[in-house]
Amino acid sequence: MPRTTAPDVAAAKGVRKIVMLAAYDFTSARLAEAAGVDVILVGDSLAMVVLGHDDTLSVTMEEMLHHVRAVARGAGSALVVADMPFMSYQASVEMAVTNAGRFLKEGRAGAVKVEGGRAIAPQVRAMVAAGIPVLGHVGLTPQHVAALGGFKVQSKTAQAAAELLADAMALAEAGCFAVVLECIPAPVAAAVTRVVPIPTIGIGAGPDCDGQVLVFHDVLGLYDRIRPRFVKQFGELGEQAVAALTGYAEAVRNSDFPGEEHSFSMAPEAQTAFEA
Ligand code: KIV
Ligand code: NA
Repeated sequence: MPRTTAPDVAAAKGVRKIVMLAAYDFTSARLAEAAGVDVILVGDSLAMVVLGHDDTLSVTMEEMLHHVRAVARGAGSALVVADMPFMSYQASVEMAVTNAGRFLKEGRAGAVKVEGGRAIAPQVRAMVAAGIPVLGHVGLTPQHVAALGGFKVQSKTAQAAAELLADAMALAEAGCFAVVLECIPAPVAAAVTRVVPIPTIGIGAGPDCDGQVLVFHDVLGLYDRIRPRFVKQFGELGEQAVAALTGYAEAVRNSDFPGEEHSFSMAPEAQTAFEA
């Protein structure tokens, strides 16, 4: 199958739902590809899910690149989107283009994602002009956690909803191929989806978006530190993992593992000579 491109995703609006998954390494990318996921986002949520931080602020370009490269090797036909980490694009247009370019050039991603609306439209325009497809992200933008005062539902007032719509529209006009809507009331997401010409990809944004995104570890039930209302677990692999690991530990302690079938033999003459 040919690799999904950013224009393919843009063209899916109104035609079919877009399935996006945040995943962070080679093996999870292969599983996502096998499941037919359209887009794999190497989210900066890896700061929390993979690296154990309390928020996404401290993850670096080098850490993100390390994971983007691994995902790109396993993604097959899925589009790989690299999440630009905090302070890799906010300070200047030049910085944004330089760092986004690294994700395509060194990371082999097919696109990047940035958080923010009108405030970062100049960065988006410059990245797009440089040939870098950009996915937008508005609503709850975790890189603004300090300013927002926590991970909270956004756009709950008419005024805030109108601001969000203006931000999403600005991203479309700046050239984003799609936009993530995170943690906003379903009616607001539905209106944005109706009005903006690019696909909306929801997480905690109700059923009317053009696509959805969840985190690999949340879908599979592997991450229980934070469980937001918008997560649906489609599996309980965390429990299965603990059961399997307990079985392994017990088998080692009882000398039930390894067995003969896991062990290597040598030619009888060689063994006799060795043991003599
Ligand atoms: O980092 C991430 O996983 C994300 C998605 C939840 C959209 O930004
Ligand atoms: Na993110």
